[in-house]
Amino acid sequence: MKRIVTIFLSVIFMIPTAFAGEGMWLPLLLKSLNEAEMQSMGMKLTAEDIYSVNQGSLKDAIVHFGGFCTGELISSNGLLLTNHHCGYSEIQSHSSLENNLLKDGFWAQDQSEELANPGLFVRLIDRIDDVSAKILDGVTPEMSDSERQSVIDKNLSAVKSSYTIEEFQDVMIRPFFHGNQYFAFVTTVYNDVRLVGAPPESIGKFGADTDNWEWPRHTGDFSLFRVYAGPDNKPAEYSEDNVPYQPKHHLPISLDGVSEGDFTMVFGFPGRTNQYLPSFAVEQLLNTLNPAKISIRENALGIVDEYMRNDESIRLKYASKFASIANYWKKWIGESSGLTRTNALDKKRDFEAKLVAQNRSASPILKQFEQLYDEIEPYALTQDYYREISGRNVEALRIAGLLKRLVDRYDSNGQEGYDLFKGRLEPFLMDLYKNYESKVDKDVFVALVDMYRTQVDAKYIPEALQIGMKPIPNFTQNLADKLYGSSVLTDGDAVMRLMNNGNVEKMKETLANDGLYSFATDWADHYNSTCAPEYTRVKTQIDSLQRLYMKAQMDAFPDHKFYPDANSTMRVTYGQVNGYQPKDGVQYVPVTYLDGVMEKYKPGDYEFDVPKRLIELYEEGDYGDYADTNGKLPICFLGSNHTTGGNSGSPAIDAHGNLIGLNFDRVWEGTMSDINYDVSICRNIMVDARYILFVVDKYAGASHLIDEMTLVHPKQTNEKLIKPRK
Ligand code: ARG
Ligand code: ASP
Repeated sequence: MKRIVTIFLSVIFMIPTAFAGEGMWLPLLLKSLNEAEMQSMGMKLTAEDIYSVNQGSLKDAIVHFGGFCTGELISSNGLLLTNHHCGYSEIQSHSSLENNLLKDGFWAQDQSEELANPGLFVRLIDRIDDVSAKILDGVTPEMSDSERQSVIDKNLSAVKSSYTIEEFQDVMIRPFFHGNQYFAFVTTVYNDVRLVGAPPESIGKFGADTDNWEWPRHTGDFSLFRVYAGPDNKPAEYSEDNVPYQPKHHLPISLDGVSEGDFTMVFGFPGRTNQYLPSFAVEQLLNTLNPAKISIRENALGIVDEYMRNDESIRLKYASKFASIANYWKKWIGESSGLTRTNALDKKRDFEAKLVAQNRSASPILKQFEQLYDEIEPYALTQDYYREISGRNVEALRIAGLLKRLVDRYDSNGQEGYDLFKGRLEPFLMDLYKNYESKVDKDVFVALVDMYRTQVDAKYIPEALQIGMKPIPNFTQNLADKLYGSSVLTDGDAVMRLMNNGNVEKMKETLANDGLYSFATDWADHYNSTCAPEYTRVKTQIDSLQRLYMKAQMDAFPDHKFYPDANSTMRVTYGQVNGYQPKDGVQYVPVTYLDGVMEKYKPGDYEFDVPKRLIELYEEGDYGDYADTNGKLPICFLGSNHTTGGNSGSPAIDAHGNLIGLNFDRVWEGTMSDINYDVSICRNIMVDARYILFVVDKYAGASHLIDEMTLVHPKQTNEKLIKPRK
């Protein structure tokens, strides 16, 4: 009976082959878990072609870009492709009013014109090993959390030092399945990564925030870099003597395009997902935490938007900040509505009932979860308010927090510690103040601090915000007037002078007498001594329970293929080119064309302007090799690949191992894929590789870059992995 139930349940939870899409898989496990399914969906490769430690494979062309995005090598000379929004801060940092790379684009005419980017790195994966048995050796179920952790810590350092590595390599060991398994990654980091090319924002960021997280999409979200190495092809710090890195593999680029139903695979470094949460956690997110975060950002965005509309210089200063606040604001709204629409809560509860029927040990776990999520709610809510307001959206408070850290460094590590931290803080603050406007920040302060004061449990409200029983009209406004009116924090130059006055004690004194600084640090102290410890206490219990819950799920359904939550490690996801139904009566097709760019074109608009040259090319209508079979120029396409933040810049790869597109976003209705992937509406958005080639070649005239690439026609030749030339 048990066996029958198991089979029955695994059938329910298994993804039907024709609609495969869910899952972010570890490259070294593809052979045992996925190869057969991938091939049944049309893939012509073997798992060994994708990930091999013995020979060059696709994985050797994939890099973790700066630790937050993905990139891929597309020539034997280290040419690297990633998103425009991933390279954004580098493109911005080389820009000035006279030479505005964001606005005009940039194309190095030869390698001598490629631009260095101190601090930027790419990480390649040399090998991945399952080290679970070694890391968990000596761990028993009876151990307390701290006993368990100390055994694991010992094992971690033993396993780490058991690797013989080169001096430029690193071993990173990460927990998977919430601590039930461990994998080791041997990696190589290259630090000399230069900017090669970027389209103007009117291509690379076309549609900006209005189109962000949306389909139909028409963004050419790409930029080009080059990885440099020492003369021995090994990592080297930036030097004029460095030479282009010769990768073990680079991705050929397909000129054959995509059709609905084609196999696609996305290879990259997804950041974080939470697929195995209990219903209580999802309920809390949906009913309490997401609404709070959404309304905080909505308030901030409303204020900034008003200023931006009325003042051109503020618009320029705040455009990028606005985009970044708006990005997750919009994502959370989509996430909540998608969770509701797909009945995620009911599904979770059904699953829990079945799980308990299958594995009794899950029952006490779930009961404990219910109680712990109840307990953590006020702390989690306060934490979200505190972090969103004080750590992010009110910039003066954020700056105060950073200066406090600088002071702390001085107190703990003396002048040396101070100088070290200051070296990193100074450029960051300089950038921040370039785009700072204290009257905007003050208005945001008033609105958001008021929210904290009125929404958060009284226990967590710092003294300066407690006003007793009688309402005081304009309390927060008056406070802000006073604090902002006399603070050094509102003046970037003054802060820089203070940091560099050569007398840290004096700086400490000035800060201690600064009302805004004191307000921020008192609030931080209050939060850190009241809410934070409570949050951590309960969260630690939730985390260790989540480990048991994960195990209970895996034990109950031994035939089900589980994939680990994203944790910024290398993963493969696969699916098909596919449209979707965003709402009743509407069906989206999975491809867009240049015609759509022209339909959206609004001359002079900061989101929807189109460069003159692109309009000319559209009017000429000659797209050469880059046209689709219908003669049109393809721009973006959709697939059912399971991606998340960090997958930006990931290559979309065809059945033969060639690049067909560049991942950069997901559709709004499907942003709940981080918690509850649903193949009916979760889609990732990719730029068509042919649009990228077209922009580089016809728009920018950078045909020397095209000459470096390996262009192929896999559909015509039906070859397997086409080995790129060396
Ligand atoms: N939504 C995409 C991601 O999460 C793109 C963000 C960049 N674009 C923007 N308009 N903010 O990163
Ligand atoms: N835009 C995201 C990124 O930057 C990708 C996503 O969330 O789908 O990684």
